[in-house]
Amino acid sequence: MVRERIEELRRQLEYHNHKYYVENDPSISDFEFDALMRELQQLEEAHPEFADPDSPTMRVGSDISSEFVTVRHRYPMLSLGNTYSLDELHEFLERIEREAGPTEYVCELKFDGTAISLTYENGRLLRAVTRGDGVEGDDVTANIRTIRSVPLRLRGDGWPAYFEIRGEVLMPYASFDKINAEREAAGESLFANPRNAAAGTLKQQQSAVVARRGLDCTLYQLSGDDLPFSTHWESLLKAREWGFKVSEHGRVCRTVAEVDAFIARWDEARRDLPFPTDGVVIKVNDFAERRRIGFTAKAPRWAVAYKFKAEQALTRLVSVDFQVGRTGAVTPVANLEPVRLAGTTVRRATLHNAEQMALLDIRPDDMVYVEKSGEIIPKITGVELSQRPADSRPFVYATVCPECGTPLVRYEGEAKHYCPNQSGCRPQIIGRIIHFIRRKAMDIDGLGEETVELLYENGLLHDISDLYDLKAEQLAPLPRLGEKSADNIVRSIAASREVPFHRVLFGLGIRFVGETTAKYLADHFRSLNAVMHATREELVEADEVGGKIADAIVDYFADPENLRIIGRLRDAGLRFESEERTLASESLAGRSFVISGKFATHSRDELKELIEMHGGRNLAAVSANVDFIVAGENMGPAKLKKAEKLGVKIISEEEFVAMIGGEEPSQAATQGTLF
Ligand code: IVH
Repeated sequence: MVRERIEELRRQLEYHNHKYYVENDPSISDFEFDALMRELQQLEEAHPEFADPDSPTMRVGSDISSEFVTVRHRYPMLSLGNTYSLDELHEFLERIEREAGPTEYVCELKFDGTAISLTYENGRLLRAVTRGDGVEGDDVTANIRTIRSVPLRLRGDGWPAYFEIRGEVLMPYASFDKINAEREAAGESLFANPRNAAAGTLKQQQSAVVARRGLDCTLYQLSGDDLPFSTHWESLLKAREWGFKVSEHGRVCRTVAEVDAFIARWDEARRDLPFPTDGVVIKVNDFAERRRIGFTAKAPRWAVAYKFKAEQALTRLVSVDFQVGRTGAVTPVANLEPVRLAGTTVRRATLHNAEQMALLDIRPDDMVYVEKSGEIIPKITGVELSQRPADSRPFVYATVCPECGTPLVRYEGEAKHYCPNQSGCRPQIIGRIIHFIRRKAMDIDGLGEETVELLYENGLLHDISDLYDLKAEQLAPLPRLGEKSADNIVRSIAASREVPFHRVLFGLGIRFVGETTAKYLADHFRSLNAVMHATREELVEADEVGGKIADAIVDYFADPENLRIIGRLRDAGLRFESEERTLASESLAGRSFVISGKFATHSRDELKELIEMHGGRNLAAVSANVDFIVAGENMGPAKLKKAEKLGVKIISEEEFVAMIGGEEPSQAATQGTLF
């Protein structure tokens, strides 16, 4: 009885999932759906013996972190030739008709998401793999299973025992806006566009997070050894019957004029679609004809993508604000009359810098073209001169900081103006504090942008070092805070004393020292003292540190105000040193190595890590101080010559591994416990 009920509920819930997520035509209310779902959850909990991974209850994903396994595609995932020009598209179609005679095409929307390949075996979803490099991709099955429109079991009959179906994982604009709003509120970095958001979400390690992100998946291409169809169109119709979401916008086109009409229609109509598209894909319909036309090395010769030009909108420029960032850089930002563009409403757009404004010759009250080009903030790409007021005058660029009145400066080689008043200019001060408390830096919870502003206004926070003197009694009486948040904040600040050194270094906000550079610096110098006293020449010795970064670091530590702040952070007990490595052995103590070339079984970083774990030292360049060069494939001839001249010993990867006992520490450790 129970078993029958469970099966009935599963059938009903999948039916309603399909109605809602595939057909966009729900037949029961959310309330009724939730009630069925709850009943199923309770029965499954009480009867674990009837568990089923394909149950609709499992679509919520899990918190278990899954590593992605690399899987080889049975049918390589090719890319498509593409063009922005109708002339080129016509040449493409003419070539096909020259080779194959009058041809039938299927025109489809080109969905702007991230490609996926689903494998079905005996009607059940076996695997979902990303495109990767086209030959191998990541197994993201756990994440794909949370997308309600992806069938876990196929409907109807007639499906091949084994086949793959390709499509696009998409993020509808509505989900994208919601996620970015949440990320903004949490102080997290924003996704630049729905495509990045879809790809980023698919690489999430917790499927429960994916389940909440509102992804969708639309399918457009079958692959298999003996597909029971003779045309692409037929295969799409069948796929739809089996439960897949196949776009209803695809059309069979029998002439070039019909293809053109399809393109012209969707170049406009796509503005009303709830998800992003970036073109039209034109495919030969007949499979036998496809086989005759064949492939190039990278793409089929029987299909092509026509890409739409980036969407533009024309609107009036209302005013220009000058925004001052954390580094003092000034960015002109246009305030616009609100206008719809690529699924969202645009009110502001960046003008980049003074040069760009002059280049566009942009003037107050101009009608301007706005465009989204992958970045979060739209940009202004042109002015509609025919609508310019007769009496208009060029803009006068700001000469003083709009925030603190300090005259702006322009550094050599930089397009932007800067406010040099680092320690007295509000957005710079607040920006630096916000950067410091970010998750990827000191990760101080409970202190958002608003609270930082509040503390600054109340004279409690002038720079990052003040954080460590804050007392709960000072915070609790402030508006919107109260005792509980005050305690939280103080506790979270105290906990940040344990944050590892490389994140402290990142948090300082030295120009050009991002998260990765901070890691390299910390790895190389191992303490703040060492970074502080390093010369420009010594700084560029660290991986990924070039002259520009080195100069910024030297400048930063030359400023007495920064040194004062660092002194106070040191007194507060922050970590200014990298963790001591626990050595696996002393077998390389006192020996210096240079790694050169490519290696069969280790990456260069792994080798460097092994050297340090065994007490050795890594050097960047061949000199008389070097004891060994570990040489891999294609080590440079100049290095080889120099090594020979200096008498430095050259060893292979195998010889190196033998020097550290022939075992990598992790393996040695496991064996130690086993025997
Ligand atoms: S067919 C062998 N159809 O565009 C042909 N691709 O630029 C396989 N795409 O990697 C692709 N919409 O991710 C096809 N209706 C559609 C598509 C589409 C979007 C993507 C796909 C592909 C990329 C090529």
